[in-house]
Amino acid sequence: MLRYSNISAGYGGVPVLRDISFEVAAGEAVAIFGHNGAGKTTLMRCAVGDISEVSGTVSYRDHQIVPGQVYLNVRQGIGFVPQGHNVFRELTVRQNLSISGLNHPEAKIEDIYKMFPILQERGPQLAGSLSGGQQQILALGMALMTKPSILLLDEPSTGLAPVIVRDVMNSLATINRESGTTVVVVEQNIPATLKVVSRAIVLKSGRVVFDGPSRDLENKDELWGLF
Ligand SMILES: Nc1ncnc2c1ncn2[C@@H]1O[C@H](COP(=O)(O)OP(=O)(O)OP(=O)(O)O)[C@@H](O)[C@H]1O
Ligand SMILES: [Mg+2]
Repeated sequence: MLRYSNISAGYGGVPVLRDISFEVAAGEAVAIFGHNGAGKTTLMRCAVGDISEVSGTVSYRDHQIVPGQVYLNVRQGIGFVPQGHNVFRELTVRQNLSISGLNHPEAKIEDIYKMFPILQERGPQLAGSLSGGQQQILALGMALMTKPSILLLDEPSTGLAPVIVRDVMNSLATINRESGTTVVVVEQNIPATLKVVSRAIVLKSGRVVFDGPSRDLENKDELWGLF
């Protein structure tokens, strides 16, 4: 249902992604791994149309993703948690969540609070004064308030303490399992991510060099050489 067909992309004439094709089925949980600069973020941005120099097509649920029209593209049910913190710093935690859910009256802040009690605890606090890790969790909560059918996350565990990484990964597994939300997660923390996903894609210099069951990646030592 998320389908990349012959995607090549770059910046200023410099190619970054080279002829990438793969599909993610509804309900799958997939990890994207690769070195810094391999093109992981660029790949995520293609899924929401946040890139202009692109050839090939990405479609989600038979809707063709239009480059440059992020706002319209995400309306197809795509929840995107970009790399780095992306919260409204001058608003409270609760306001950030409620704004994100504006077009989704069925989304309940209380459900997010249940999943991430730290957000409830910090509900009245300005988002800009949260720690980096807390902002990361808020960004995930905000994406969930849009009731996505697919969740794209770009390095959600960066800057989080190990125990919080575990919480976030467990939450992703729960979201995937219980609501059937498709999850595509870019991560550097490979061991923690392999516990959550059933399939992994490895990018190297903008090409897919591995795409298969995550247990194959876990079991085959030589595959680690791919990185
Ligand atoms: N806006 C941009 N303008 C120019 N070059 C860019 C831009 N964004 C990314 N690049 C370049 O494209 C390449 C791939 O970047 P990308 O951010 O997709 O990699 P990544 O795999 O997400 O890396 P990281 O693990 O560090 O987040 C890098 O060489 C980067 O310098
Ligand atoms: Mg990146």
